Amino acid sequence: MGHVSLHYGRPEEGPLAARLLSALGFTQADFMVLPDGSDFYRFVVDPKHAERADGILFLSVSPAEQRALGATISDALKVDTPAPHPAVSAWRDALANLPEMNFHIGFLVSTLEEAERIVLDVQALNEKDDAFRGRLKASWNRAQRGDPAVDARLDASPVFAGKGSYVYEPIAAVQVFIESDIIVCGPLQDRMMLEFDYVFPGFHHG
Ligand SMILES: [Fe+2]
Repeated sequence: MGHVSLHYGRPEEGPLAARLLSALGFTQADFMVLPDGSDFYRFVVDPKHAERADGILFLSVSPAEQRALGATISDALKVDTPAPHPAVSAWRDALANLPEMNFHIGFLVSTLEEAERIVLDVQALNEKDDAFRGRLKASWNRAQRGDPAVDARLDASPVFAGKGSYVYEPIAAVQVFIESDIIVCGPLQDRMMLEFDYVFPGFHHG
């Protein structure tokens, strides 16, 4: 896969969105200020891609026309009011239960520790960093029970131990879902989710 183009929603929040991608483990490979004054970044999913047109996450501000369309839809549907349109409430309720329903990108991480680190770092940023406070959400699914070694490792995990939801498929994998209102998508130009999966060695998808 060559690249994905991500958008941050507020013109002044390029640096914050870039900080988020760095915190999630991506490597910044390029930065420039565009003629309209906005920040444009090229991240890569792995440093080995830094010089190639592969594994790229472009990060730029959502175009003015798209932001205007999102704001118009939000106004018409009373999105950020105590009484939004029922379709908005239903969509948000559905996402709260199943973040994968939204448009998202799934990344494969190579160790369980990296999946754990992402959750713990995002939780710390959300609680302790003034720039991110209250704007990040981490949730996760652990592997369905059945493999004793996998179950024991997850039961000892600072993230996946205890009560939790489980991955849908019966494979030894975990899913981490990171949501924020900093990187946006969709008709409302609101919260985008990024997924990070780890599959235990010897277990295959599909
Ligand atoms: Fe997914």
